[in-house]
Amino acid sequence: MSGTAKAATLRLDRLLANLGYGSRREIGQLAKAGLVVLDGAPVRDADRRIAVSADLSARMTVDGEALDPPPGLALMLHKPLGVTCSHKEAGPLVYGLLPERWRRRDPALSTVGRLDKETSGFLLLTDDGALLHRIIAPKSNVAKRYQVTLDRPLKGDEAAIFSSGTLMLEGEDKPLLPVETQVHDATHAAVTLHEGRYHQVRRMFAAVGNHVVALHRDRIGGLALPEDLEAGAYRILGEAEIQAVFAGPRPA
Ligand code: URA
Repeated sequence: MSGTAKAATLRLDRLLANLGYGSRREIGQLAKAGLVVLDGAPVRDADRRIAVSADLSARMTVDGEALDPPPGLALMLHKPLGVTCSHKEAGPLVYGLLPERWRRRDPALSTVGRLDKETSGFLLLTDDGALLHRIIAPKSNVAKRYQVTLDRPLKGDEAAIFSSGTLMLEGEDKPLLPVETQVHDATHAAVTLHEGRYHQVRRMFAAVGNHVVALHRDRIGGLALPEDLEAGAYRILGEAEIQAVFAGPRPA
């Protein structure tokens, strides 16, 4: 949520229903019972209009607990292996790693792009459609860095091929944008992408005769996945961190 924009107002029952606290009727009952408290005083009228500011969670409690983050939520998740970036596929989903109530939010939280089921690392999620589109828009040039473990030793020409801007992936008719490569050792490298094609990193290494055995994203734009954020854990992003996604230095 922008710090300068005037906060929109919503009826209390609409605000809490959109955050997944229940139906408007149930919220009416919560409010009547004095269980919704704003700035220390119960809000008993569910039709009272509330200014939806970013600090609302610090000022409102529901049944004694801080209000969930209001719309404008952005978070980083350390995606573990074996979890899918989808709202509806079978098996464990990234949304299952978040508080249960958040699955009923409207607007819904969505991942900003996807990671394969067998890729771990930095995933952004937001309920802010404009922010999501800004991050994925080509003109924002938000680069993504991946740490790659390979099955076979690098031959030595991969970095030049990836940075050439001419590498064509199987089944495609447009060459890849140049990719930066940092070689760590014979079977480990980091690649920085400026676009996101389907299974791009795995297909790039397949195109040069290798095979990716482990893939981990550790950076999006100017924001790194913190080393102390364990697999499966998430953190809500502040405005400065959101801006860091767009800011340099671009990952090398
Ligand atoms: N490239 C891949 O191959 N997989 C991902 O999940 C992301 C980039």
